Amino acid sequence: MQLPLHRGPVSRALTDSLRDGTPLDVAALLPLVEAVEDVVRDEDLQLALWTAYELHYGGFDDVDAGREWDPEVLRLRGALEARFEEQLRALTAGPVAAALDGPGDVADRIFAQANAADGPSLSRFLQREATAEQFREVLVHRSVYQLKEADPHTFVIPRLPGAAKVALVELQFDEYGAGRPERQHAQMFAAGMDECGLDSSYGAYVDVVPAATLALNNAMSLLCLHRRLRGAAVGHLAAIEVTSSLPCRKYVQGLRRLDLSPAMAEYFDEHVEADAVHEQVATRDICAAAVEHEPALAEDVHFGVAVSLLMDELLAEHVLACFGDGASSLRSVEPAVRTSAARSAA
Ligand SMILES: [Fe+2]
Ligand SMILES: [Fe+2]
Repeated sequence: MQLPLHRGPVSRALTDSLRDGTPLDVAALLPLVEAVEDVVRDEDLQLALWTAYELHYGGFDDVDAGREWDPEVLRLRGALEARFEEQLRALTAGPVAAALDGPGDVADRIFAQANAADGPSLSRFLQREATAEQFREVLVHRSVYQLKEADPHTFVIPRLPGAAKVALVELQFDEYGAGRPERQHAQMFAAGMDECGLDSSYGAYVDVVPAATLALNNAMSLLCLHRRLRGAAVGHLAAIEVTSSLPCRKYVQGLRRLDLSPAMAEYFDEHVEADAVHEQVATRDICAAAVEHEPALAEDVHFGVAVSLLMDELLAEHVLACFGDGASSLRSVEPAVRTSAARSAA
């Protein structure tokens, strides 16, 4: 994958520095980061954060791999994360407090928290109404995560105690195909994309997805790359699993209604079955076990659940609002935002 096209001064400074191998002047960027009020919806900051995180995953073909641990890049990342986490904490304070007050055990409270979420249903729209073009667009949004499905939460494995760690490894083993590379969920999603006529190479659509899609991915990396946020990371995973099985059934029905792609239908079908099991593993064997070992993690478990639900809701709102207006939910990439390297090559 190549570096993405920048979307403003911060992402421009970062991508230029990473590509050219020049030092990053973080001091000049910090006031710009501080000046943004709505970090969750800011195209420039979300792209900069996504780019900084990507150095820890597959990286970029046009960036020296050593930049992963460049102190200045990490300093910028830290400033972006501080603003992002602050906003996420503020936006989820109500649901987290309500969940902590709820009856039952940790798992019961996670299920109740997911059931209480009342955002618009993207899966119902895909099941009943979406055109093939709209369905493909949703797959494009999802591809930013699904082509590296399960990778963020793998970073959490060494941070958990015995029983919770064993359960997370068991869950991730399924996500990675249970010993069969072709059944790796990311690989199954890629096969479905190919059949839909989409580009399944990792990161192919990063330039056209909006801040809401990047924020959903960045929230996952934020929670999974910090040991102090391990409670939130497993809560986030539980929310993914708890909200997967029934919506995936609707995705399958939508794909069959449109006669779109048997391979993509197989991907979602796999999740109808698997995630009915995974939601029990994630809530009881991972989250409840982690909280039993460290009771202080309880609040952050519910914070992670709330973040996952909120990010899904914001993306669904964006996509359905665009479709409601008869518009695309993807960005059209302006030549004006092309990188300096692309400009000088032209
Ligand atoms: Fe999966
Ligand atoms: Fe799963």
